[in-house]
Amino acid sequence: MPEKPEFQSITWQDGNLQIIDQTFLPDREVYSQLTSVGQVWDAIKNMRIRGAPAIGIAGAYGLHLGINDLHETGFGTFYSESQRIAEYLNSSRPTAVNLSWALKRVLQTIYSQKEKPVSELKEIALQTAITIHEEDERMCKSIGRHGAERVPGNASILTHCNTGGLATAKYGTAFSVILHAHQDGKVKMVWVDETRPMLQGSRLTTWELDKAGIPFTLNIDSAAAFLMQQNKVDLIITGADRIAKNGDTANKIGTYNLAVLARAHNIPFYIAAPYSTIDMNLDTGDQIDIEERDPSEVTGFNGHQAAPEKLNVYNPAFDVTPHDYITAIITENGVIEPDYTEQFERIFNQKIPNSEAL
Ligand code: MRU
Repeated sequence: MPEKPEFQSITWQDGNLQIIDQTFLPDREVYSQLTSVGQVWDAIKNMRIRGAPAIGIAGAYGLHLGINDLHETGFGTFYSESQRIAEYLNSSRPTAVNLSWALKRVLQTIYSQKEKPVSELKEIALQTAITIHEEDERMCKSIGRHGAERVPGNASILTHCNTGGLATAKYGTAFSVILHAHQDGKVKMVWVDETRPMLQGSRLTTWELDKAGIPFTLNIDSAAAFLMQQNKVDLIITGADRIAKNGDTANKIGTYNLAVLARAHNIPFYIAAPYSTIDMNLDTGDQIDIEERDPSEVTGFNGHQAAPEKLNVYNPAFDVTPHDYITAIITENGVIEPDYTEQFERIFNQKIPNSEAL
């Protein structure tokens, strides 16, 4: 098991949520204390914390922070207020299902013990958040182990966005596969898509790869086709924000481009994600709500204008890769080959059922 990385994306400390503020990276490693549900909402919305599993974990702690401030003593009003706070947190970002999944899980755990006093239920909410946090770390490690078996020796791997310890409790999803494969001595090179417009690849993935001592090269997103044409990519692996029951996968904008290119160049294209990213309530990817973000993310960066101020901008944060472009989905339960629906149903029958949408 790789001991690296040497940072903690999320920590619960002295009654507060501590996060590494990803907007300062890679320049500075700044840790922020979030002491209220409003601060957690803002941190998720403004991508101080980001990545599907990480926003689920932060959301669960945020729900605890919110309900801890409630004065209600009767279960009925306490629970309806808790639901209201969960809905508020869930409004911060719509695409990654991990957020609503984690919030629903906290609510369900509270509801299942409703005979207990409210003071105890507040503590139960915290314990559930801690469980979600710890469980994510274990799942990420397991994803890495399973995925590394698919990596050939001397591999050049192309990845998109950031899927590492920053985006999860620890290790990451696609990044964990790379970490484990590197530990097995199989990684020659990681090609890092810069990931326009928020540069999660160039700002965050390179930072994590550097810390882990893994060889990498940064490329602009539009260089991916040329790299593949020159036989410089052996496999592509990315994370996911929401996977529908049939395997259609929403992930960072540009992921679908890679899947189409992988098909054209006969390169395996893998998705790595824990079960908290699979949404069994959606039959296909058409039903996934795709977040559109502020035009300013495209027209400039860090206060620098890169386009005329007034123009039409289309800025979807995610796209959906149809399941038949995906070679396999790497989960903590192993590598899942198509037919995804059948395999997912088998897994979910053994686990806590995925929550309905909030
Ligand atoms: O907008 P972001 O940076 O939150 O998008 C993140 C991604 O698309 C990741 O690939 C995904 O959440 C998986 S992270 C393990």
